[in-house]
Amino acid sequence: MSSPAPRNFRPKLHFTPPSMWMNDPNGLFYADGTYHLYYQYNPDDTIWGPMHWGHAVSKDLYHWEHCPIAMEPDELGTIFSGCAVLDSKNVSGFGKNGCSPLLIFYTNDGKCECQSMAYSLDGGMTFTRYSGNPVLGNPGLKDYRDPKVFRNPVRGGYSMIVSAHDRAMFYHSTDLKHWEKTGECKPTPKQIHNADVWECPDIFPMEFGGKTVWVLVVSMIFLGEGHENHMLYLTGTFDGDTFLPDEGAIAERVDCGFDYYAGSTYWGTDERILIAWENCPDYAGQVPTGEYCGQMSLPRVLHLQETPAGKKLAAHPFGMEKIFEDAKPFDGCLTGETFALRISGEGSGSVTLENDFGERVTFGVDEENHVYVDRSASSALQVNNPSWPLMQKSCQPRFYHGRWTIDVVFDVSVLELYCDDGTRCFSNLLFPTHPYKRAVSKGNCQIAFAAL
Ligand code: FRU
Repeated sequence: MSSPAPRNFRPKLHFTPPSMWMNDPNGLFYADGTYHLYYQYNPDDTIWGPMHWGHAVSKDLYHWEHCPIAMEPDELGTIFSGCAVLDSKNVSGFGKNGCSPLLIFYTNDGKCECQSMAYSLDGGMTFTRYSGNPVLGNPGLKDYRDPKVFRNPVRGGYSMIVSAHDRAMFYHSTDLKHWEKTGECKPTPKQIHNADVWECPDIFPMEFGGKTVWVLVVSMIFLGEGHENHMLYLTGTFDGDTFLPDEGAIAERVDCGFDYYAGSTYWGTDERILIAWENCPDYAGQVPTGEYCGQMSLPRVLHLQETPAGKKLAAHPFGMEKIFEDAKPFDGCLTGETFALRISGEGSGSVTLENDFGERVTFGVDEENHVYVDRSASSALQVNNPSWPLMQKSCQPRFYHGRWTIDVVFDVSVLELYCDDGTRCFSNLLFPTHPYKRAVSKGNCQIAFAAL
């Protein structure tokens, strides 16, 4: 168990577990006016361990009520990441007395990794394991996990994408119980970095210019030095069996910061809403947060946007449009620890948040038209891991030229930045020993402010 936090780093808007360790979001679904969030949870320690599914519910994706643990390890192993499906037509046959079953699919991590299922008849509070588990046995792979089920508009029924070592595998089912393999997806190294392990894939259709474009997202582990683990996306098509990247498509970062991983999207919402684990697998267990470890990103609404560099995934924080529009010109004094900034600029410009103890974080656009976040002086506190000093400045080229807007949400110990309509996003954890007191701008940019 870690030592007490040097101060309270718990964010106000970002979901954190009541205590102990949390990683990936799991089983995200929306029904009857309630958003459900399950998550990888170790209830006995603040470091990763035997995985359970923790559970919380919310009406607005910002105020959460903690619920009892939903899934505990069983004879097939611990409960790794997975998804939820509301089986409204009761094709699985688990429904009773007109009540549609909620199904969850997850990886059992025991002697090997396999895919299992459980169903709930009380809206996701308690689950019964399927007697036929696993629904997918292991095909001889060490890494074979994180099932995500989606509707198959080509064949009808449902498809499941599973990460399988250095690629994804696809399966099809009409009853959600029997699954048949339909294909594999392993883009070329030119299209996507050749990662050591794929994790938490997700795939979804998006409307773009009157057509449907499919987006594949995947989180990638690189075992060698010099690459940080990150989450990528590719655009393409889904032919009913597998995902085919667009001609010339090259994977882009879903988020260019260091703390955004294992994201997944909601089942049952009109908009495509993404939540990720806002931490970095390289040093996640070493952050100085004390009684809890791990937080979720803000919920992000996704869309595809045409840019001078082609079509890109764009994101903005769910429900916060008006907050940014109504942000007020501001005198530079930060009174609270949770606030939004809208920064408008042209050419190079930056904003620094700083306290009276020499700690600061700087972000903006540089002379080369790159967006960046530099947290190298953000705190005297160091995360106790060799990866931390290597992960201080993140920087990526913009997809646009000319004027820019950066929307920022700062929440006690995390900074989320959305540049150019969220076509470039950055998430970074920060642990200033004392709250930042001022925002100082440089170059040609103006700051508007909203307390949150
Ligand atoms: C990603 C991941 C998943 C796995 C889970 C285990 O962070 O490694 O691949 O299911 O975490 O906690």
